[in-house]
Amino acid sequence: MSESGAQKKKGSKKVKVQRAQDAPIQPKLISSSTTFFLSVPALIAILLYFYFNPTPAIEFFDAWIGFSDHYDSAPVPHTHSFTYLSADTTKRRAVLESFKHAWLAYERDAMGADEYHPISKQGSNLTDAGGIGFMVVDVLDSLQIMGLRAEYGRARKWVAERLDFDKGALFSTFETTIRVLGGLLSAYHLSEEDPIYLEKAIDLADRIMPVFETASGLPFPAVNLAERRGYHSIDFPGLSSVAEAGTLQLEFRYLSYLTENEVYWRAAENVMKVLKDARLPHGLASVFLAIEQGQYHLSAISLGSRADSFYEYLLGPRSIGSSTSKLSNQTERFYQDMYDDAMESIHNHLVQRSTTNNLLYTSELIPENGPDGGLTWRLTPKQDHLVCFLGGSLMLGATRTGALTSPVSIPPHPEELTEKGTRDWKTGVELIKTCMNMHDTQTGLSPEIVYFRVPSDGMNAMPNAPPDWYIRGAQLAPGELPPYDSRYMLRPETVESLFIAYRLTGDNIYREHGWKIFQAIEKHARVSTGGYATVINVDDNPASLEDKMETFFLSETLKYLYLLFDSSNNIPLDKYVLNTEAHPLPIFEPSIRSRFS
Ligand SMILES: *[C@@H]1O[C@H](CO)[C@@H](O)[C@H](O)[C@H]1NC(C)=O
Ligand SMILES: *[C@@H]1O[C@H](CO)[C@@H](O)[C@H](O)[C@H]1NC(C)=O
Repeated sequence: MSESGAQKKKGSKKVKVQRAQDAPIQPKLISSSTTFFLSVPALIAILLYFYFNPTPAIEFFDAWIGFSDHYDSAPVPHTHSFTYLSADTTKRRAVLESFKHAWLAYERDAMGADEYHPISKQGSNLTDAGGIGFMVVDVLDSLQIMGLRAEYGRARKWVAERLDFDKGALFSTFETTIRVLGGLLSAYHLSEEDPIYLEKAIDLADRIMPVFETASGLPFPAVNLAERRGYHSIDFPGLSSVAEAGTLQLEFRYLSYLTENEVYWRAAENVMKVLKDARLPHGLASVFLAIEQGQYHLSAISLGSRADSFYEYLLGPRSIGSSTSKLSNQTERFYQDMYDDAMESIHNHLVQRSTTNNLLYTSELIPENGPDGGLTWRLTPKQDHLVCFLGGSLMLGATRTGALTSPVSIPPHPEELTEKGTRDWKTGVELIKTCMNMHDTQTGLSPEIVYFRVPSDGMNAMPNAPPDWYIRGAQLAPGELPPYDSRYMLRPETVESLFIAYRLTGDNIYREHGWKIFQAIEKHARVSTGGYATVINVDDNPASLEDKMETFFLSETLKYLYLLFDSSNNIPLDKYVLNTEAHPLPIFEPSIRSRFS
């Protein structure tokens, strides 16, 4: 895996140049024509030009083979389909340069620390007990995928010599699973089974396993890794978010597969059964669950914070939401039913249109006491940037659970998708458009949270009322701090969807969007001395920065951008499922059958 598809392509071009140079010493070729002899230097020049500037050649080739834009929400009737998408080496190289700018700064200032602060050039740990490799392990597979061998070698050495999970402090079950366990499992696969990673993964998973020892089987949201004991959260005792409970399946199932030990699989999958039994009448998940009771706790319904990856992992079983099921060869009806049910409910209750430009977005539902004392749900037109994962996820789901054939064409032909598949595909394409529209800010970066305009918001009276959406509380009085909603914390969700959409359609518009976002990150979030930092207000140009570079910037945002510009041979989507922290795990043939009934 360290040899990326792009490098292979580079190699083949080198061969061509080499042949042209060799040509003159082949007497037969020379004798055939003097014009040929004269054309050799010109040919070399042309090949060298395209070797260093591949984009025009690729674009020309795309146009020549009829690669027309089909940035339309419907699956396009198309006569040809693409099984191979070539790399854009110039843009891929630019992403690689940024990755090194960030990683080398972290290595210089904070190697081994869980978190990095690029402006003050220091690291910090999640707890006083010391680091658990949050950053290093999260980034291992990015180093492998990008072919950064020397850097990867140093990171592996740190894992082998320094990584230690015997830490007597509380860690998030969810974050530790998706970032550290997921990172180790992915590194294990990509390194062709370097035993150090599996050994560490088993050690970590065994420390986490006691979180499932609750009356219902729903996991405790916190774990003391040294004590090997689950804990309630301090902020919401007795409760777990649905994302925390529903996003462990991929990693634990794969670990069971690798170790032939069913305990991880059974524990994680029991959670899904509890979630299915707890189904609310409208089929949507409230963000909180009561852990001991195994029931939903009356709370908001959202596709964003605290719920997002639950929906993603439902696709897991049969697609990526089927991540879990996709991971197990799409055999399990159970996940598909839950996925279909959830997508149906999302369309029935949450999908909305903006007032001016008819942009598709998803709202949230807030529970309230109605006038007669009964429960009512108030629609709130709020969308987190986190929801932007859903566009690509819906499109991927459409090609899996919503497909009549397997594999579907790239892009899918209308007759290859079911009615629901077509619906999900269209919604996905439109949601990505909306997410791109959310980047229409002074910096070109998307805010953390937007509200969409509704007739009752009273904003029409304002002189410059925004047409479709706005950042709440962003009308600042002088000296006021910008609201939390207006930040861009280097999140990956939009570029994740762009990557998936590009792989499923071959449509260059998605690369163009990704390039725009990448350039905005370069312009506003780059710290000149190394690293990237959170933009405090996306409408402030030049931007002010907060001294934090999240681990997901390297493990997700730059990985997805790199893969967006790389050839489709690097992490092909029919062979891998990416966990919610962008750690690719191979799709495998399960040796363990789920017992849902
Ligand atoms: C973080 O933890 C690591 C590993 O235990 C330790 O080497 C490092 O000194 C800690 N860093 C800080 C800033 O406390
Ligand atoms: C999936 O599993 C079933 C049952 O074990 C098997 O018959 C089928 O060939 C598998 N499909 C793939 C694509 O591996």
